[in-house]
This record gives sequence, structure tokens and C-alpha cells, in this order.
Amino acid sequence: MDERIVSPVALQGEKEIENSLRPKSFAEYIGQESVVKNLKVFIQAARERGEPLDHLLLCGPPGLGKTTLANIVAHEMGVNLRSTSGPALERAGDLAAILTNLQMGDILFVDEIHRLPRMVEEVLYPALEDFALDIVIGKGPSARTLKLDIPSFTLVGATTREGLLTSPLRSRFGILSRLDYYHPEDIQKVLERSARVLDIDAEKEGLEQVASRSRGTPRVANRLLKRVRDVAQVEGDGVINPAIAQKALDQLEVDHLGLEGLDRKILGTIVNKFGGGPVGLGTIAAAISEETETVEEVYEPFLLQAGLLQRTPRGRIATDQAYRHLGLELPGDGKRGLFDG
Ligand SMILES: Nc1ncnc2c1ncn2[C@@H]1O[C@H](COP(=O)(O)OP(=O)(O)OP(=O)(O)O)[C@@H](O)[C@H]1O
Ligand SMILES: [Mg+2]
Repeated sequence: MDERIVSPVALQGEKEIENSLRPKSFAEYIGQESVVKNLKVFIQAARERGEPLDHLLLCGPPGLGKTTLANIVAHEMGVNLRSTSGPALERAGDLAAILTNLQMGDILFVDEIHRLPRMVEEVLYPALEDFALDIVIGKGPSARTLKLDIPSFTLVGATTREGLLTSPLRSRFGILSRLDYYHPEDIQKVLERSARVLDIDAEKEGLEQVASRSRGTPRVANRLLKRVRDVAQVEGDGVINPAIAQKALDQLEVDHLGLEGLDRKILGTIVNKFGGGPVGLGTIAAAISEETETVEEVYEPFLLQAGLLQRTPRGRIATDQAYRHLGLELPGDGKRGLFDG
């Protein structure tokens, strides 16, 4: 199913549902125990000292709860959250305008912070360290810099690509939180909570079916839950039981590992067109007409984590497990690209 063909109106509805499902406090936030435990301590300590929280970097694959956590941190600190993103901040002035409008203690949330333009990033450094902006007035020999104080604030950055952050930027974050794929029990809890919030009638075993195919990702779990509900409503008696869940997920072509059409297309392409690899990411993306970044940020992390794909200096390789998953015969020794160098 290609989600992008959905009309903007339908997407609007999906966005509202996503927001309604978003936990608002730590009490509602499921899983990621060690991240949450640490954040709670840092937040309590900062509050007791009456200081803003140290700058926080949230890393991890899409849909695991980075934006959710940023909002929760603001809520728990009792401060406002101002939200923007790396690509939205095109010029240094864009950032300066936001920074000078913050109130003491506010959180500035910068999503996709790895995509911050270099010039903007340089304005951010003194802001993060000294809560000051260096503004250049004039040009040429008569140019001078003016130091402008800004309110002390907390930067919360989110990224799916930690490795792309420059080291000066990374080193200015006092707290680094890495989110990982959720355990099946936690995804089950996410589903139970979402079913409650959306008033969906579901059996525990029905939700277990959905959980097992949700790739350890709350956003995927919630999306599948909504689609399974549709099938239960139209083709069943409205209750999500194991049979209807199974039927719906099969209809959606979500397999038992949670792979969908494009995941299998990526693996299939590596196997069938490139002898199992190694093959460069750009070549794979071109072969399936997708953006390289989308493949790398959205699809690849789970395929790697599931042991279906391997990253090597010479390119991506489909593992033996990928062949088995696709129901294909393993290549004989020496037949796979891996062994030909
Ligand atoms: N710990 C959690 N407990 C319950 N639901 C969660 C949790 N984390 C995330 N969710 C749900 O998953 C959805 C996606 O989470 P969120 O938007 O925070 O992910 P993200 O990491 O910011 O993704 P992206 O990288 O795409 O921006 C949220 O709407 C929320 O309903
Ligand atoms: Mg987000």
C-alpha cells in the first residue's frame, strides 16, 4: 500500500489521530525504560535548581517516539516548546528570530537536526554555550560584531541519523538519549493503550497478532491497528480477534516479520538484480525508484536490526536469512557478490 496516494484531507485525519494517541507525560509513555529513567532524574535535578534542562539530543529510527519525548520533557519541565526543523531554518536570521523570541527556560525543538545548514549551525554554537548571538553589522572593513544576549533555553534536537551530526554540534549536547526498537510486550502495551483511547474493541490475542508485525515501532503499531480495525468493522463484527487480525494483516501484505511491500522489494532487488550484493545504496534506491535517503532512514534500519541486511564498506548484502525469508534458495559458495573480491 502506497501511503502517499492518500489525499491531503485523509492525511489530516491521520495526523489528528496520531496527535490524539501521543502520550503527554512520562506516566503515559511506554517502554524505553533507561532513557526515561535518566531523563526523569535530569529533569528533577534541573527543576530543583531552578535551571533550564541541559541541551538534549534524541536519536533513533523513525516512529519510535522522539517528537513525543520532546513534548513530554517540555510538559514535565513546565515550559513552552517551540518547534522547528533543520531544513526549515534556511538562513542564520531564521534561527536568530526564533532564539530572540524565546522565554527563559523554553525548549527549542529542532527536528531533523542533522539537516541544519552549516551557516545556521554556526550561529547556534554561541547560543548553546553562552546564550548569546554574535551578530555581524555592516560589511567589509567597517563590519563589527555585536553580542546579543538571549534567554537561557534548552535545545532538544531529534535525528534519525546521528552519524551525520558534526562533532562540534554533537559535543554541545549535555544529554544524549538513544531510542531503540520496542520489545514486543511494550508494543502490546502501546496497542492496548491506543485501542482504549480510540475506543476500539480488541481481544488481547488479536492485538498480539498486530504487535508481532509492528517492527518494534509504535507508529507502525498504531497505523496497523487502525487498518485492522477497518477490516474488523467491514468484514467482521467490529472486534479485533486473532482471526480477523491475521486476515487484515495478510490483506495489507504485512508478513510475519512485519515487512511490507517496499521492504521486500529492497531485499528482492538486491537478491535478484545484484546477486545478493554487495551493492551500493544509491544503486538500490535507483532500481526501486526511491530516494536514497528514504531507503537509508526509513527502511534500512529495521532490515539491519532484523538481520536481513548487512552493511559493508563495499555496499549492502542480503543475508542468508533474507534469502530464507523470501523463500529463495541460498546462493552457492562463491556465487554471491560478497565472495568475488
Ligand atoms: N513510548 C510510547 N508510548 C506510546 N506511544 C508512543 C510512544 N512513542 C511513540 N508513540 C506513538 O508513536 C507515534 C510516533 O511517535 P513520534 O512521532 O514521537 O516518533 P518520532 O521518533 O518523532 O518519529 P520521526 O523520526 O518520524 O519524527 C506517536 O504519535 C505516538 O502515538
Ligand atoms: Mg518526530
